[in-house]
Amino acid sequence: MSFNPSHMQFEPFIYKSLEDLKNKVMELHLDIPFYPRVEILQQRINIAKRFIPNRLSIQPIEGFDANPDGDPGRLTYRRYERYARGGAGLIWFEATAISHDCRSNAHQLVLTEENSDKFKEFVSYIRDICNTTLRELGFLNDCVLILQLNHSGRYCVRKGKKYPIKAFQYAELDKARGLSEKDGIIISDEDLKELEDIWVQKAILAKKVGFDGVDIKACHGYLIHELLSSRIRKNSIYGGNSFENRARFFLNIIERLNKELMNESDFVLTTRMSIYDGIPYPYGFGVKPVENEKFPASIDLIEPIEIINRLYNLGIRLINISAGNPHYKPQITRPFDTPVKGGILPNENPLFGVSRLLNLTSLIKNHLPNDAIILGSGYSYLRQFAGYIAAGLTHEKKVDICGFGRMALANPNFPKQLFQDGIIDKKQTCITCSKCSEFMKLGRNVGCATRDPQYKN
Ligand SMILES: Cc1cc2nc3c(=O)[nH]c(=O)nc-3n(C[C@H](O)[C@H](O)[C@H](O)COP(=O)(O)O)c2cc1C
Repeated sequence: MSFNPSHMQFEPFIYKSLEDLKNKVMELHLDIPFYPRVEILQQRINIAKRFIPNRLSIQPIEGFDANPDGDPGRLTYRRYERYARGGAGLIWFEATAISHDCRSNAHQLVLTEENSDKFKEFVSYIRDICNTTLRELGFLNDCVLILQLNHSGRYCVRKGKKYPIKAFQYAELDKARGLSEKDGIIISDEDLKELEDIWVQKAILAKKVGFDGVDIKACHGYLIHELLSSRIRKNSIYGGNSFENRARFFLNIIERLNKELMNESDFVLTTRMSIYDGIPYPYGFGVKPVENEKFPASIDLIEPIEIINRLYNLGIRLINISAGNPHYKPQITRPFDTPVKGGILPNENPLFGVSRLLNLTSLIKNHLPNDAIILGSGYSYLRQFAGYIAAGLTHEKKVDICGFGRMALANPNFPKQLFQDGIIDKKQTCITCSKCSEFMKLGRNVGCATRDPQYKN
């Protein structure tokens, strides 16, 4: 991706036609492919012993609408029912806490032995609706439902107060949350060791309650992602300069789950990874090891690729690629036109942000053998034209499955519209107004305030 000074100027999405958008992409010299034959997105894809029915996925979006025990609430059912009626072949369920004390909100989903029957009911309910929709749309294979399991790490909240559980100190990240280095704790090696066990138990429970796969979340500044860059963590088997140490927690869990879950089974063990976060060395991941860089730091994928190779060797055949730490600088994870209230507009064209995500993803895809499936992120900014880019990337084998986050909140029927009409309905598309992120920041129920009457007021 070559650098161009005009990438560093913010400009909102003003493109009325596909031609306008293509012209801007050309003017900025961005590598964003377009392909008119969106039917390519209807092709199924083989993963291990099963098929994912089509190339569209719902990305995980926390709804903060669980019941106090962590089981799905009325609005959780509503959100997933809407996704299930939309026709995506894969639904990637939102960040679900591995225990009550590592939630980022009192209404985050938590999977426990005690509420597992309620999760079972929920998964079965959503699966039935999803499969009925897929049949109506002519797909022969069943949906794939994956649960994302997380420890919120630095973004934990306890008893209504921010309680960061950090891998290391970094004042910038504390400041971005209105905190200081004194707040919260640095997690000990003993606690991490214990957490490995809990994570493994919860992944096994996810299979028991009926999910087809489980994601060991390693993105967006949460615990595992932060451990990967914990170079300044002292006297720890989980940190320091050694790459082996920093990757230990993540790979231990994957290795154990590979043995526990994948023998003779078609269960999907996966991860969502931030392969680059832009945070300058020595605090960031996927960044060049040079001192005194400013945000966004230069990209260096040596360590992310090493991890991904090891994941492949441990049997992982699906990886959901993301980037950034949205609590710090959201533009890397989700390019937008309007910041959250009190936030700032970044010094970059959001289309440049989109192309960074697409290019990082295709670099990983090119690096792996053909049987590894790569799921990409960050298409919602492209609004009604997103299908043409998703088709272009799929056609050029730069990605295998395209996952939509904010678009799915705004317009859960986007897959159906693409399959039946060849284009996403302009009147229903996400406008990247950041209201959903604002709700998340405020700890309120998350939904689309622009398109969904449930959240308009
Ligand atoms: C309100 C909100 C909640 C999110 N929750 C999650 C989450 O639970 N897990 C996760 O991996 N990503 C989460 N994300 C990131 C999205 O999955 C996605 O990567 C991001 O929005 C960019 O994709 P998009 O352009 O299609 O929206 C969230 C994003 C938003 C806006």
